Formats: sequence, C-alpha cells, structure tokens
Amino acid sequence: MVKWSKKEKRLPMITESTHPLVSSLVNGLRDTRIDALRFRHMVAQITSLLIYEAFTNMPTLTRKIDTWQGRRAFDFLDEEAFVFVTILRAGLPMLEGANRLFPDVGSGFLAMKRDEHTKKSRLYYDRVPSCEGKIVVLLDVMVATGGSLSDAIDLLKSKKPASVMSLNIIGAPEGLARVERRHPDVAIHIARIDERLNADKFILPGLGDAGDRSYNTLKEEES
Ligand code: PRP
Repeated sequence: MVKWSKKEKRLPMITESTHPLVSSLVNGLRDTRIDALRFRHMVAQITSLLIYEAFTNMPTLTRKIDTWQGRRAFDFLDEEAFVFVTILRAGLPMLEGANRLFPDVGSGFLAMKRDEHTKKSRLYYDRVPSCEGKIVVLLDVMVATGGSLSDAIDLLKSKKPASVMSLNIIGAPEGLARVERRHPDVAIHIARIDERLNADKFILPGLGDAGDRSYNTLKEEES
C-alpha cells in the first residue's frame, strides 16, 4: 500500500499540479453554487492547464508553412502521435478542453458507470480509434476507488499503444495507489489529490458527482 506523507504526494508516475491557478480552479469546482455550464467550462480550463504541464517533452515535428516571409519550417506538436480517450460522462468537458488545443487529434469514448451499491465500474460502450503506436491520453475527472481508471487502462493497453497517460482533475490516495499498483508504467497528471474516500467511496472533500454536476442530473440521482 502506497502512503503519502503530508509533504510528499508524488509517486514516480503520479504528478500532482502545484500551480496556484490549477488549485484555484479545482477549489472553485467545490462550490455547489457553480452551475453546470460554468462547471464544464472550468473542467475544460483545468484540462488545458494539465496538458500544458504534462506535454513538456512530447514529440514535435518540423512542418513547412507559408508565412509573411515566404515558406519556412517550424516545430509543432505531432498531433498524429496522440489519441485522446475520455470516460463518459464526467470526462466529456475534459475532452472539449483537449480538443480545443488539438483539433486534429482523434478521440475515443468509453462509457463506464460505477454501480453505487458494489462501487465497481462497468463498461457498457466503447468507441476508440486505432491506438497502435500512439500516445493515448486518457481523460477522466475523478479517481475515487480507481476501478474505472484501471479497467480503462487495461482496455486501452490491449490496443497496442506506444504508451498511456492519464489526466485527472481530482483523486483519492487510495484509488491512485490502486491504479499505480496495477499500472506502474502509466503516468498520471492530476490537478489535486484530496484526503481520502468516505464509506460510500466518494472523494473527501471532493466536489460531489462530476457527471451529475456537469449535466444537471443531481436531483434526479438523489430522488
Ligand atoms: C465517476 C467518475 C469516474 C468514476 C470514478 O463516474 O467520472 O469515471 O466515477 O470512480 P472510481 O474511481 O471509483 O471507479 P460515474 O460512474 O459517477 O459516471 P458519470 O461520469 O456518468 O457520472
């Protein structure tokens, strides 16, 4: 079992953002007065910042473009090297944020639902483009028990990618440790590691159910 001290929350493959802009946005999401539109917008903004932090050493290629001084060669991130995959529903605004930065990257979808009684995730739909030889960037808001993320990585690894990385907004140490144990080769960039899970496997202090808050189904789920 991996344990973090208060000071050190960094495992070799798990990087928690230390940027105050990221913290402010994540803490803003905790405010229940934030409506669904603003919630999704902030999730997309955080995703852009996570990509900025995570893509430091990503592959670039040189392309010739027409500039005001004629045809010149410049370096660009190699969008063809990547595939983005999100887990529905909560991950959708993350994909929106990623797609705004990289409109040419192919995107895939996994639909998973965590059973609120067993707390286990179940895959009920997948539509993912070819991942062979690609850097697969998995986008999901929350890592609670880590079941959804671990299962999603299992599925993506079966598609022969060059590597898989995960971008997440908020997680619990227990869930991240579970993913780290099962997939020690997967880099996880997360905006905020919270304190722990409660008895219902919700992240504390957390931000509630990100899927419900994104799509105005909170009351429906409660009734
Ligand atoms: C949430 C969240 C993650 C999952 C994390 O999805 O978006 O995918 O739970 O939980 P885990 O780490 O314990 O597996 P949820 O099942 O609530 O679906 P939703 O996004 O449609 O609301």
